[in-house]
Amino acid sequence: MHARPRPRLAGVSAPLRITVIGTGYLGATHAAAMAESGYDVLGVDVDADKIAALARGEVPFYEPGLSELLESNVTAGRLRFTTDFAEAADFGDLHFIGVGTPQHPRTNAADLSQVEAAIGSLAPLLTRPCTVIGKSTVPVGTAENVRTRLQALAPAGADVDLVWNPEFLREGFAVADTLTPDRIVIGVATPSGPGEPRGRDEEVMRRVYAPMIEWGSPFLVMDYATSELVKVAANSFLATKISFINAMAEVCEATGADVTRLAEAIGYDERIGSKFLRAGIGFGGGCLPKDIRAFMARAGELGVSDALSFLRDVDGINTRRRTSTVALARELVGGRFVGKRIAVLGAAFKPDSDDVRDSPALDIAAAIYTAGGDVIVHDPQAMANARAAYPKMTYAADIREALTGADLVLVLTEWPEYTGLDPATVAALPTTPSILDGRNCLDIARWRAAGWTYRGLGRPNA
Ligand code: UDX
Repeated sequence: MHARPRPRLAGVSAPLRITVIGTGYLGATHAAAMAESGYDVLGVDVDADKIAALARGEVPFYEPGLSELLESNVTAGRLRFTTDFAEAADFGDLHFIGVGTPQHPRTNAADLSQVEAAIGSLAPLLTRPCTVIGKSTVPVGTAENVRTRLQALAPAGADVDLVWNPEFLREGFAVADTLTPDRIVIGVATPSGPGEPRGRDEEVMRRVYAPMIEWGSPFLVMDYATSELVKVAANSFLATKISFINAMAEVCEATGADVTRLAEAIGYDERIGSKFLRAGIGFGGGCLPKDIRAFMARAGELGVSDALSFLRDVDGINTRRRTSTVALARELVGGRFVGKRIAVLGAAFKPDSDDVRDSPALDIAAAIYTAGGDVIVHDPQAMANARAAYPKMTYAADIREALTGADLVLVLTEWPEYTGLDPATVAALPTTPSILDGRNCLDIARWRAAGWTYRGLGRPNA
């Protein structure tokens, strides 16, 4: 999975001591990667259970390769964990902030309370020069405010630098994306002009990321606002690309065309590219949906709503994929879910993750359940999170149990366990061998040859 080579440790001189505040998907991975790069690292979180698990070398979520990385660095003594901010302030030359910025339930804006709490806890304890590095995804303008507050609260005052350093890791590839990033983006208060010497903050960041720079990651220094925008612009572009191909899928559905062939053909144009053109039930997860909504909310505050009005359509197309998939499932079981058993394969928002935040798969399963369907869900990794979100739905111990007696099978997350199924072997399990491929990830010819009624999204009916 990790195609890119790991960075070498050459280029790191005196040991820097690093804290990483927030130990979720982002922070835990970053802490382990920094330790792997040779630094002494202290992970900090307000959640004592999470910290206790991490200190034992256990990752409290599913991320391929992270357990091994964490365990080896905890064992080597380079990586420790605490809930104590005083210990963190005393320890760190650098403090990374990797806490969550979830969607605010009322306004759709980013909820910055965890960033504010982290700064509020740390800053009054900073008595010597250090650098605080924000990694959380925040609305443009946040870094400037955080810097003012940080320097006002810290006894060390202006000797505390603030850098904004957005994180672009993907779940499922978090380890590789952190050790060998596509690019490193650094936002500083006063970027140096051409020919001017580098600022202290830039020098520090070049030293921290020396292994990654040596590996070949481009290192880009810019002002705070641009660095904050890079992150939300990148996620908006990715979301737009997915919604574009899903809009094409809607047109294909109305015309009998095949969106997978269309995507293949346009993807050969290098200007378009074939990645992120997989049509299906759309995007979910802890980033893309909430980031585009927070970006729209921020644009409204800045008086530039019109510039991002297209994101409303991007979000709308994405939401429509879920409702139209539920409608298609209803049609396939004869117009009513009541009395019908629906097997849902996949609950995570994508494979190689146990994350069900804003998961299209789980959302569709729950909508069918609410409409009266007898829904049975299976996922190789996300069962515990799915059950916690929807305790009343039924969960299958294995794929066979899910398929047995089903009137319709939905494949909603393209785990290899599902794409690798032999349709002939499992054809006798359901009451009706009917499958709706919500990720266009199955071989139509094989499934049809094995006697299944196959429906994809944006693909011809027969
Ligand atoms: C995303 C960004 O990719 C990453 O750079 C950023 O740091 C965080 O947000 P992630 O949320 O891990 O990462 O998932 P990603 O791989 O981008 O997929 C997002 C969603 O889009 C998934 O639900 C996935 O199934 C869906 N998707 C992706 C499609 O529906 N079609 C595609 O072609 C690609």
